[in-house]
Order: sequence, then C-alpha cells, then structure tokens
Amino acid sequence: MSRIGIIGTGSIGRVHARHAARVGLPVGAAWDPVSEAVEALRTEHPDVTHEPSLERLLARSDIDGVVIAVPNDLHEAIAVQALQAGKHVLLEKPMATSVAACDRILAASRRAGRQVQVGFVCRRLPAVEMATALRAAGRLGRIYHAKASLYRRRGVPGLGGWFTTKARSGGGPLIDLGVHLIDAVLEVMGRPIVLHASGAVYANFGCRMKDYAFTHMWAGPPRLDGACDVEDHATALLRCEGGVTIEVNATWAMNVPDGALPDGLAIFGDAGGYRFGMQDRTLTLATEAEGRPADLVPHFVSDDPMQQAWDAQARAFRRMLDTGSPAVATAAEGRQVQAVIEAIYRSAAEGREVDVA
Ligand SMILES: NC(=O)c1ccc[n+]([C@@H]2O[C@H](COP(=O)([O-])OP(=O)(O)OC[C@H]3O[C@@H](n4cnc5c(N)ncnc54)[C@H](O)[C@@H]3O)[C@@H](O)[C@H]2O)c1
Repeated sequence: MSRIGIIGTGSIGRVHARHAARVGLPVGAAWDPVSEAVEALRTEHPDVTHEPSLERLLARSDIDGVVIAVPNDLHEAIAVQALQAGKHVLLEKPMATSVAACDRILAASRRAGRQVQVGFVCRRLPAVEMATALRAAGRLGRIYHAKASLYRRRGVPGLGGWFTTKARSGGGPLIDLGVHLIDAVLEVMGRPIVLHASGAVYANFGCRMKDYAFTHMWAGPPRLDGACDVEDHATALLRCEGGVTIEVNATWAMNVPDGALPDGLAIFGDAGGYRFGMQDRTLTLATEAEGRPADLVPHFVSDDPMQQAWDAQARAFRRMLDTGSPAVATAAEGRQVQAVIEAIYRSAAEGREVDVA
C-alpha cells in the first residue's frame, strides 16, 4: 500500500491529511519550516513523522507520493525537487505562478516518469460532476456560452500576508479562486480550447490596508506591515474554438449585498442548460420536451459536497499511486488553466484582447 508525505502543513496541508486518512491513504511524514504547523497536524495524526527537512522527507523510500500545499511561489521548485526524487505529486492549485513554470514542472514530470495531479478539487463537487455527466451524455446539445463566477463581499484572505503579495501569490482572486472556476467550467464544457482573452482587474479594497472594512478574515489576521499589491476583482471574456464564449468573474471584495450575485457556473447549449452553485446539492437542467420548456432534475448523492470532493480527490491520488492509473487533474490541464489566467492578466495590463499561449 502506498504512503504519502505532506509538504506544507498550513490550513490546506492539514485538510489533505484529514482526507487522506478518511480514504485509507497513510500519511507517513510531514515537513514545514514552521515546526508548530507540523505539530498541529500531528495532534490529529500522531503517527505522522515530523521530518527535519524537505530533503529527509524526499529521501524516504517508503514515501511514494507527496502533497505540496505551500504558498504559490514555491510550487514549482518543490514540485520539481519532489519529481526528481522519484515522487508522484499532488500539487495544490494554482499549478504555479506562470506558464513557463508549469512547463518546467511538466518537463520534470516527463524526465522523472512521475505524475502530477493538480488540486482542482472543485471539479469533484457532486453538482459539477453531475453537470459534466449530463454534458457528456449530449443533454446540452451544442454549447455556445458559459458563465463562471465567485463573488465575495469581504473575502480578502490574510490581508498583508502571502495571498495579497503578488511576488508570492502571483495575483489576487483571479489566480486564487479563478483557477477553480476556469478548471471547473472547462471540465463541464468538455475542455474547449481557449483562444483569446479580454480581461480587466481592479484593486479597490485590500489596498486600503488599515481602512479595509470587514467582519471575518480567512487566513488572517491582517498584517498591516505587509503588502497588498494584487487585484480584488477580475472579470474576463474568453473566446474558445468554434465561437464559444465564457464569462469569468472572480472577486475577493465588492460592495454587493450578500447573495445578490449568485456564485457558480451557468452553461448554455441549444438543447439544454443549467445554472448552479458549485456546492449545490441539486441541479436542474432546463431543456425541452413535447414541444414545451421542461426541467430535468437528476438524483445524485450530495450529502456533504465539499467533503465528497476532497475525498474523491484523495481517492484519485491513492489510485494513481497504487495502480499507476493516469492522474485525473493533469499537469497539462493545470498548464491550460494557467495560460488562461496569464492571458487575462496580460489583457488587463495592455487594455486589449490577447491570444492565450
Ligand atoms: N484547494 C483549495 O480549495 C485551496 C484552498 C486554500 C488554499 N489552497 C492552496 O494551498 C496552498 C497553501 O495554502 P494555505 O491556505 O494552506 O496556506 P498557509 O499559509 O495556511 O500554509 C502554507 C504553509 O506552507 C508552509 N511553507 C512555507 N514555505 C515552505 C517550504 N519551503 N516548505 C514547506 N512548507 C513551507 C508555511 O509555513 C505554511 O505552514 C496554496 O497554494 C493555496 O493556493 C487551496
């Protein structure tokens, strides 16, 4: 049976450990430069060895794969090091902070003959999987337009920390939330090739630093001596092959009444369409029957969507390690999403539509 190591035991590294345990994937070791972070993980998982260095963790022959859950700017270097050490990798999103870095990870994966699974957990949410299955069964007909949105009224994470420092994160909500949106919408649509992007980004809230008004802060508390040089809202229109378009909105902060702008995906085809929150427990396909508009409401298991998605992601990693089956959220798909993100930022900077690399 395969065994994994966890590199980076902050908020999400600990979530990975929990779900690995839930699906019977043993965690043998953990490393984080902040000792207390590993010890926090060990309070829940006392059998995990606290390794004294990354090198020591990667040198362990009983560790087949590693989860990398560190700040975005470290993804590339640690992923390449782990692949070179012969480990398969579950790499948190975004895959990296540039397309060039994604290409270097892809090259390292090919050289080492080891796989990379990208942490696109949202594509495993039950409603997203159901929507994908309906599209694959042809229920939407020809898809011509889609919308993918996540709006937060006050959701700047860890103001002044690594999330809001461009050199560490690569950007704001577009790279943080937008990667989930873009991966999930492409997955539901059957991964059309995105040719062009026209985007705009805005910074109105986090950049106020001490005057940023909020009630709760995820990844907080704010560090007022830190930086906030990233956007807090991004909007884009993507043009895909065949004239298909996708509208993307990713927001950390906006003056919008709670719930007024629904989060989620909307996909429109000439035979059917739907709009749903990614964590919804039901999905309604708007279609036609007997010459009239009609709704199809399929039954599917969705008791705890987030828990199910994280379990499915961990199970896929375990299967890949145990059987050598292909990764389910591949490095090539991670690179495709990164190329879209990079094009949106470039379009915003240049004030015009640009090609996607
Ligand atoms: N899948 C999701 O829904 C989701 C949600 C949140 C964050 N993330 C991603 O997970 C990653 C981590 O985010 P987080 O919220 O856990 O951040 P965090 O700040 O809570 O944790 C990051 C951890 O990495 C550690 N670290 C720093 N340098 C390291 C190094 N060289 N080696 C090992 N560990 C190192 C830090 O000490 C910290 O404990 C990011 O890439 C983020 O985008 C994914």
